[in-house]
Amino acid sequence: MAILVTGGAGFIGSHTCDALLKKNERVICLDNFNDYYPPEKKRKNIERNLASKNFILAETDITDGKSLEKVFGENKDISAIVHLAARAAARPSLDNPLLYAEVNILGTINLLELARKHGVKTFIFSSSSSVYGANKKMPFSEADITESQESPYAITKKTGEMLCKFYSETYGLNITCLRFFTVYGPRGRPDMAPYRFTEAIDKGHPVNMYGDGNSKRDYTYVDDVVRGILLSVEKSRKFEIINLGNGNPVELKKFISLIEKQLSKKAKIAKKQMPKGDVVATHADISKAGKILGYVPQTTIEEGLKKFIRGYKS
Ligand SMILES: NC(=O)c1ccc[n+]([C@@H]2O[C@H](COP(=O)([O-])OP(=O)(O)OC[C@H]3O[C@@H](n4cnc5c(N)ncnc54)[C@H](O)[C@@H]3O)[C@@H](O)[C@H]2O)c1
Repeated sequence: MAILVTGGAGFIGSHTCDALLKKNERVICLDNFNDYYPPEKKRKNIERNLASKNFILAETDITDGKSLEKVFGENKDISAIVHLAARAAARPSLDNPLLYAEVNILGTINLLELARKHGVKTFIFSSSSSVYGANKKMPFSEADITESQESPYAITKKTGEMLCKFYSETYGLNITCLRFFTVYGPRGRPDMAPYRFTEAIDKGHPVNMYGDGNSKRDYTYVDDVVRGILLSVEKSRKFEIINLGNGNPVELKKFISLIEKQLSKKAKIAKKQMPKGDVVATHADISKAGKILGYVPQTTIEEGLKKFIRGYKS
């Protein structure tokens, strides 16, 4: 049996492929290597896996239904789909909402349709904490009402969850929507705060600090998220929405000071106004993930940043 990982050359996707290969699974890594950030980074992410007989690379776009159909035609043993391919990040979606809708909504429908047609029972959808919008109630619980989002990106993720629910109820697919909370770690996306801050502090450039430094993020180490993804595949259920966070939000000021400590360098802070599309705080209630999946995050922010910065330096 094979597991199809869409966005498999990306940050979370490449770690997911690594973990599946370690378990001797056959992996089909599907990615279009777009240039949202340098595609060479994505090629490097999967370089080591290309030699494995269990690893197949499908260079395909999820918005291209015909090419996707071909992947399924050539790999009749796909038993699960881990759908991570997306245009990620809230801020740029304000400038290009159509592209976000095309990839994140149309692409997701293409994959759900193929799962239905080819009898793939297990489908994991990568949703996001951004679905909670400016939710005031902390921590964010899956039972909270999520009717108001702050960016087109977040709306595409909410729509993805709704489509998943429809396909599960109508066609009997087992679908788990995982809401990831600010994932960081080696190979982290260069557009995200952990990478941008580290690079700026390391090179002595100003660190753009949005707001007063009191905003909080529930940073989650990538290995913990990957463990949650694998558990969701193993314990596939009819339909669930599950938070995958750390459960311990960290203030921006503290986050920057932890990076300073790891690099033994001082940040030059440039205060900026909080941009549109950003929320003040995220905090995951991870009790459902614990109960249903047995998910327990194992990496503290200090340990995680140490590993991230080691990866950044190498
Ligand atoms: N990193 C986070 O903190 C975070 C938080 C919440 C949700 N997510 C979600 O998790 C998933 C993975 O995020 P990531 O941080 O690894 O991002 P990433 O950009 O590193 O990975 C996404 C991958 O999808 C590929 N891709 C994009 N459009 C595609 C298309 N049309 N066809 C085929 N492949 C395509 C990209 O080339 C990339 O390699 C995304 O769905 C993202 O929205 C991430």
